[in-house]
Amino acid sequence: MSSLPTPSNKRRRRVLAIDDEPAMTEWLKMVIEADGYEVRTALIGTRGEEIFKQWRPDVVVTDLMLPDLDGIALLRRLKEIDAAPEVIIISGQGTLARAVEAGQAGAFFFLEKPVSQDGLMDLIRRAIEQTQARAEHKQMKEQIRGQYSFANIIGQSKKMKDLFELVESVAASDANILIQGENGTGKELIANAIHYNSNRVKGPFIKINCAAIPKDLIESELFGYKKGAFTGANTDKIGLFEMAESGSLLLDEIGEMPSYLQTKLLRVLQEREYRPIGSDRLVHVDFRLICATNIDLEVALREGKLREDLYFRINTITLRVAPLRERTEDIPLLCNHFLSKFNERYQKNVRSISPAAYHLLIRNRWAGNVRELENAIERAVLVCKTGEIQPGDLPESIREEGSPAQEFTVPPHRTLAEIEKMAILQTLQRTNWNKQEAAQILGLYRPTLYSKMKKHEIQDQRAQQRAAAAQAATTR
Ligand SMILES: Nc1ncnc2c1ncn2[C@@H]1O[C@H](COP(=O)(O)OP(=O)(O)OP(=O)(O)O)[C@@H](O)[C@H]1O
Ligand SMILES: [Mg+2]
Repeated sequence: MSSLPTPSNKRRRRVLAIDDEPAMTEWLKMVIEADGYEVRTALIGTRGEEIFKQWRPDVVVTDLMLPDLDGIALLRRLKEIDAAPEVIIISGQGTLARAVEAGQAGAFFFLEKPVSQDGLMDLIRRAIEQTQARAEHKQMKEQIRGQYSFANIIGQSKKMKDLFELVESVAASDANILIQGENGTGKELIANAIHYNSNRVKGPFIKINCAAIPKDLIESELFGYKKGAFTGANTDKIGLFEMAESGSLLLDEIGEMPSYLQTKLLRVLQEREYRPIGSDRLVHVDFRLICATNIDLEVALREGKLREDLYFRINTITLRVAPLRERTEDIPLLCNHFLSKFNERYQKNVRSISPAAYHLLIRNRWAGNVRELENAIERAVLVCKTGEIQPGDLPESIREEGSPAQEFTVPPHRTLAEIEKMAILQTLQRTNWNKQEAAQILGLYRPTLYSKMKKHEIQDQRAQQRAAAAQAATTR
């Protein structure tokens, strides 16, 4: 019994052959079909064009001299209908000048008669490869744009896709937006996406990081001042509120804003106008406010560090950016993104990441989130000696965290509370009592760590040592 041909859902590649000589179209049909392609023929250009529209061939082979139409004119018409299929033009001898013209019109190749079977088939194969490569490239670009990234923010996890959708739907409104997320999760990228997808895109996007500038300077930065308003005010200064006119204003680390300024900010947002420091000039407010924070503002509220009325003003819409460890499926995609970024920057050719290195990347805690991953890949690209990143190319902290010696084993017969206490204590010891770092590793906000330390009666040993040393010094 003869075996059945393997079924294939891939359609056979199609070639359209146009020539006014029936003997030539017959020959073309025969040799091209012999190579497994599907072939249709036409004796005049307009008929060829009709078949092209309905049948959508992958490649067209046409004579230059057709009874109704010049081959190059036909090529132009076909390219207008669909530029993807490649067109090969066959002509009599001595038409070199027209070859240049054909090339400019987008022909794949200009072939002079007599045509050899091998030469023709080789060309058709190359033309098809080219069409296919272009289609794949286009599809990849669309996928990256549509599914995996939004305004250069990479992510295919459900959490990120939901976030992209939310950003898209709220960007156009003028609502105040609060972006919450741990360090390095991409809050600023999200803020950019909001501004650049909003109606205010033509206006400025002004950013201020309340944690990065001295607290007593934030006010004059935001409000601006009049010359002579205080010592040192040698010229008028335009404030950021005013600079953001018709655009957006990002207040980063809003949780760090001193309380008296929170009151002033609230008043500006309510009244939509204010006066620069020491000035009578009334400035009208016309910006969209975006705030970002990496601390839990609800805790800051409870602890009285954030005014409640301000909180409700700024978070008309809250966007939460998930920590990287909660969306590990984004790690490979982010790695590829950073690989190409740093290959290009450092003129390297690191193409992949070994399975062992991936294993470490996936199981790492990423307290510093995407920024930490980006730094790790940058370093790995720089030190990598082969084309593939190995565990040894990764920072030590990542390798250590993955090694079994550091693994936490739950001791038997302990309550959950006891285990929690041990986990907190060990993490604090490992971080040398750096509470910010320990809180990040444990996935807690700092104030929550403090309250858990209090609950479990964990004393800051480093602070105790310091106090003891200070006492020893005074009693000496
Ligand atoms: N989804 C992502 N796709 C690509 N790059 C990302 C993504 N998220 C973060 N990054 C990169 O990680 C770095 C940190 O991002 P960003 O500054 O937006 O984070 P952040 O949350 O504002 O950090 P911080 O809390 O320190 O202010 C940047 O270099 C950014 O380009
Ligand atoms: Mg930021």
